[in-house]
Amino acid sequence: MKKILVAYWSGTGNTEMMAKQVAKGAEDAGAEVSCKTISETSVDMVKEASALAFGCPAMGAEVLEENEMEPFIAGLSQAELGGKPTGLFGSYDWGDGQWMRDWAERMQGLGAALDGEGIITQLAPSAESLGQCYELGKRLAG
Ligand SMILES: Cc1cc2nc3c(=O)[nH]c(=O)nc-3n(C[C@H](O)[C@H](O)[C@H](O)COP(=O)(O)O)c2cc1C
Repeated sequence: MKKILVAYWSGTGNTEMMAKQVAKGAEDAGAEVSCKTISETSVDMVKEASALAFGCPAMGAEVLEENEMEPFIAGLSQAELGGKPTGLFGSYDWGDGQWMRDWAERMQGLGAALDGEGIITQLAPSAESLGQCYELGKRLAG
């Protein structure tokens, strides 16, 4: 059975709603799913998963949240990510998605097999973006 890790940071719940849909899609496709905040996530959990989804909103000035998500991502390497199917998602507000373009490029540089360009949604996720998150979960489990 596929082991899917969905790990996210969310300050006001928008990215968390997306995470729950990714997890639901993967569960409905029959995978074993852990859906955790990034503070509950260890590098070993990343290593053990067969596919990954990370969620984080745009924070700072078009960067990842700096206290928990940024250090966690900075601690990952080819050893955990190499060739692994990986989806990214997150909410933003006034920007144009630059944080996600930078994050996707960075994860590719670390060897992750990225699923698309990352799912982004302005503030509270629309039904359409929640559907995209659900489909991401299904693909990661497939
Ligand atoms: C401190 C702070 C910094 C932010 N920086 C950005 C930014 O650079 N670009 C942007 O588009 N939105 C920015 N936002 C807006 C958040 O990305 C947006 O409110 C998002 O929906 C929060 O997601 P969450 O509910 O998962 O925490 C920022 C919000 C906060 C609180």
